[in-house]
Amino acid sequence: MSKRKIVLIPGDGIGPNITAAVKKVLKASGAEIEWVERSAGLGALDEGEDVLPQRTLDAIKEYKVALKGPCTTPIGEGFISVNVQLRKALDLYAAVRPVRNLCGVKTRFTDVDLVIIRENTEGLYSGVENTVTPGVVMSMKVATEKACYRISKWAFEYARNRGRKKVTVFHKANIMKLTDGLFIKKSREVSGEYDDIEYEEIIIDAGCMKLVQDPGRFDVLLLENLYGDLISDLAAGFVGGLGVVPGANIGVRKAVFEAVHGSAPDIAGRNIANPLALLMSAVMMLNYLADTEGREDFCASADRIKQAYNKVLEQGMSTLDLGGSLGTQEFADALVDRMRDI
Ligand code: NAI
Repeated sequence: MSKRKIVLIPGDGIGPNITAAVKKVLKASGAEIEWVERSAGLGALDEGEDVLPQRTLDAIKEYKVALKGPCTTPIGEGFISVNVQLRKALDLYAAVRPVRNLCGVKTRFTDVDLVIIRENTEGLYSGVENTVTPGVVMSMKVATEKACYRISKWAFEYARNRGRKKVTVFHKANIMKLTDGLFIKKSREVSGEYDDIEYEEIIIDAGCMKLVQDPGRFDVLLLENLYGDLISDLAAGFVGGLGVVPGANIGVRKAVFEAVHGSAPDIAGRNIANPLALLMSAVMMLNYLADTEGREDFCASADRIKQAYNKVLEQGMSTLDLGGSLGTQEFADALVDRMRDI
C-alpha cells in the first residue's frame, strides 16, 4: 500500500517526548505513514510563528487527518486555547473518548467500558467573554439547534454502528433552561429515530454521583462542551488516569486525534510521561482511516499495536503513573520488542 501523509503536531510540554515514542511504535507496526510535521502552541511561538499557524491549519485541511500532542494554554491570561481554536477552525464538532479498563492495569472498578461524546464547538467554550463594567465580567454559554442536533445524531449513529445499547445525556436543564434545555430537546428528538438504543437523561450533579458509584452502568455518555471536558478527566480516573485515555476530534471528512490529557508541565522534560494515551489515539486514527479510506493495512497495524500494549501491560511493564518503572522511550521500546512476535 502507498504511504498515507498524515499531519503530526508534537505540541509542547510532554508532547514532543510522547509523539517521538508513538512514531517509533507506529513505524514498528508497519503502518505506511509519511508524517507532515507542523507546529502549534508554545512550540510555534518559539519558532516565531502564530500560536496556531495558518500553514498548520492548511496542512490538516489538505491531508484531512492529524495526530496531535498536547498544547499548553496560559491560565487566566494570554492567548486563547490552541486546542479550542483548532476544533472551531476545522469544525471538529464531535470529541469521542473511549474509557475502558486495560488488562494489567488494576483499578477500583473492573467493568468500565464507556464512551464519552462531547460537543466540541460551543457552550461556554465559545470564547464570548467580556467586561460589562469594572468589577463585573461575563461569559456567554452558546447553544444552537444545529450543533445540538448534529452531536446527538453523531452519538446515536456511533452507538448504533458500534453495537452500543444506551445513550445517557448529562445536563443541567433545570437551571440552564434555554441552553441545556435545547441540548436535551434535540437529544430527545434524535433518540426518537433510534428505537434500538435506550435513551436516558440525568441531571449532571446526580449523574456524577451515579458515575463514581457504578461507572459500569453507563454506555455512551453525551455531553455539551464543558461537561464533556470535566467528565472525561473524571472518568479517566476509573481506568488508570490520564495516561491511558485516548481521543478523537471529528468533523466532516476531517479528524484530529489526541489524548485527553494536557501538556503535563509538572513532568515535562523528564521522559516519564505515559505515551499510551497518544498511542491509543493513533490506533483510533488507523481504524478511522481503515473505515473511511478502506486501508485494511492500517487495521492490521492497529491490531498489532493493541496486542503489544496489552501483552506488555499484562507482564507488569509500564510507566510510573501506572506503578511501573519504565521511562517514556523505554516503554515504547518494550512495545516495539513485543511486536516482533506478533
Ligand atoms: P494535564 O492533563 O496536563 O495533567 C494533569 C495531571 O495528569 C498531571 O499531574 C500530569 O502529570 C498527569 N498526566 C497527564 N498526562 C500524563 C501522561 N501522559 N502520563 C503521565 N501523567 C500524565 O492537565 P493540566 O495540568 O490541567 O494542564 C496542563 C496544560 O495542558 C494546561 O495549559 C492546559 O490548558 C493544557 N491542556 C491541553 C490539552 C490539549 O492539548 N488537548 C488538554 C488538557 C489540558
